Amino acid sequence: MSTPTDQQFLDDFATMSTFGATAGGGVDRQAGTAADGEQRRWLAGLLEARGFTVRYDRIGNQWGLLDLVPGAPYVVVGSHMDSQPTAGRYDGAYGVLAAAHAAFRLAEEWRTSEDAAPALNLAVVNWFNEEGSRFKPSMMGSSVYTGKMTAEAALAVTDLQGVSVAEALAALGCVDDWDGPEAASCAEIHIEQGRSMERDGVQIGLVHSNWAVNKYEFVVRGEQSHTGSTAIEDRRDALLGASMLVLLAREIADAFPGQVHTSVGQMEIYPNSPVVVASRVRLLLDLRSADEAVLAKADAMLHERIAAIPAAASVELDVHTGHSWPVTPYQPEGVELAAKVAADLGLEYKPVMTLAGHDSTNMKDLVPTVMLFVPSVDGISHNELEFTKDEDVLAGLAVLTEVVRRLAKGELARDTVAAEAAAAH
Ligand code: GLV
Ligand code: MN
Ligand code: MN
Repeated sequence: MSTPTDQQFLDDFATMSTFGATAGGGVDRQAGTAADGEQRRWLAGLLEARGFTVRYDRIGNQWGLLDLVPGAPYVVVGSHMDSQPTAGRYDGAYGVLAAAHAAFRLAEEWRTSEDAAPALNLAVVNWFNEEGSRFKPSMMGSSVYTGKMTAEAALAVTDLQGVSVAEALAALGCVDDWDGPEAASCAEIHIEQGRSMERDGVQIGLVHSNWAVNKYEFVVRGEQSHTGSTAIEDRRDALLGASMLVLLAREIADAFPGQVHTSVGQMEIYPNSPVVVASRVRLLLDLRSADEAVLAKADAMLHERIAAIPAAASVELDVHTGHSWPVTPYQPEGVELAAKVAADLGLEYKPVMTLAGHDSTNMKDLVPTVMLFVPSVDGISHNELEFTKDEDVLAGLAVLTEVVRRLAKGELARDTVAAEAAAAH
């Protein structure tokens, strides 16, 4: 087989975007749905045609393994192919396909040139349920792989219809009794989902750390009654209380201009019927900042201000803190390695923080991890209009290929970093 060209990458990207395609030019491929399963089968075919062995682990992460060095651990490279509802074509899926094509390019090179032989094996990964839209929390597959969540807890999570992760994965035939391969290092490429790279005219973002996040679940409890006949002073309107939370999120963002990002993203209203005052609303709010001290102040403001809602709306309010993660750095050696690659390829690059969560934010806590961004036109994301120019998509693929080549030689591998650290003492 010959080395896949840039045009083959773009053609595969177009084919990939047909799975779960929406009329508005985006995709709807939530985790564990039929569209997710079809796409996984398509990716498996692509990997197998190039000699990779496809396996699933116990939480449905899809692995394409290239075993060249018996017994050696793996460079793990990939992202996620699941999407939000009516989402864009690039978020996650670009990173999985770029990982596959980078691996195909390197596999061809290793097959045809003996002195290029790698020191590590290579694993392309399509993480299960990064988005957390159908099943919470987000980054589920990489959380289980990195030991941050048990497989049992993840498999027991249900969607709004009561279908469990275990049932959804079994229906797709995408789960196995296996923990996944042993990682030595990791790389992921993703669209920026913000405007900063486009504004600064750079093609490659080197992610050096992530914003901190607190995700909260609120349950507002009122009493069901008639929207027409019930006297206003008698109403215990759960949706009124929930709406106060929506507005409060914006007030908190306005109190820390540019430093805090927050919104309510999901609301379940019961009974959600005309002419009925809602008795119960469950809603999810996330609060993010690059500065943990600011996040703590925003969290304090949230807790102080919600105390007034029960009396103001005659409701009861429960708060649960769900998923959260601190500001954490990616290994500086990985940022340096990626900077060298971008410079060698003559590309403009800059260090960036990621505001969104990524599977690599889990992986970097396990093994040295390189995270790369390419620009997003107008910063649009989680939207069907999400777009990245072909030239940027291809520049990212070139950088990822070089990064993976160096990782496969053993640069940054967990043991190498440990050995260097020990030698320095
Ligand atoms: C996950 O992708 C998040 O940013 O919450
Ligand atoms: Mn993503
Ligand atoms: Mn996303």
